[in-house]
Amino acid sequence: MNTDGKKLVVFFSHTGENYNVGNIEKGNTHIIADMIADATGADLFEIVPVKGYPEDDYNECIDIAKKELQSDARPAVKGDVKVEDYDVVFLGYPNWWGNPPMCVYTFIEKHDWNGKTVIPFITHEGSGMGGTGRKIAAACEGANTLTGKGLAIQGKVAQENQASARKSVDSWLERLGFENAY
Ligand SMILES: Cc1cc2nc3c(=O)[nH]c(=O)nc-3n(C[C@H](O)[C@H](O)[C@H](O)COP(=O)(O)O)c2cc1C
Repeated sequence: MNTDGKKLVVFFSHTGENYNVGNIEKGNTHIIADMIADATGADLFEIVPVKGYPEDDYNECIDIAKKELQSDARPAVKGDVKVEDYDVVFLGYPNWWGNPPMCVYTFIEKHDWNGKTVIPFITHEGSGMGGTGRKIAAACEGANTLTGKGLAIQGKVAQENQASARKSVDSWLERLGFENAY
């Protein structure tokens, strides 16, 4: 992996009513994405679905997410970033039943991943990476996805114990061989 190459952090993160953390203004994965971008000097891009998930009613969000998963949907997303210009892409998302939200696939399938290094990171409430690394690897065709080296952080820790989350991010990046850009 070219750790000195051009780096991008791409993530999806849900705000509003969320599991185990109440009504949040900044999503758990978003917090970790910011930390990775800070530490590596990477550019940052947020995957935002055109039709956002409900923020006031957790169960409604769950219902929509479940339907999207069951129908293998590809919800439209806003904006774009030229992944093709980067060498290393950190790809972050919450664990939704052992999958990334379906809009992450919408984003992935818009791009050519040949020759990229893809490094997954996830926030969760107990399921860890949950096999999502392999799913990302299959979707990012042609990339070298570091399936077994992804970072999994509990959402509640990201939200409520940021010193601890930052420690985990920093030591993970160090293990991967990234110079600290602070
Ligand atoms: C639709 C949905 C499904 C979820 N499924 C799981 C799950 O299967 N396992 C788990 O550990 N956490 C699950 N969670 C909890 C989220 O992974 C966790 O709260 C995460 O940190 C949310 O990140 P975000 O704020 O960036 O969206 C689920 C949350 C939602 C909204």
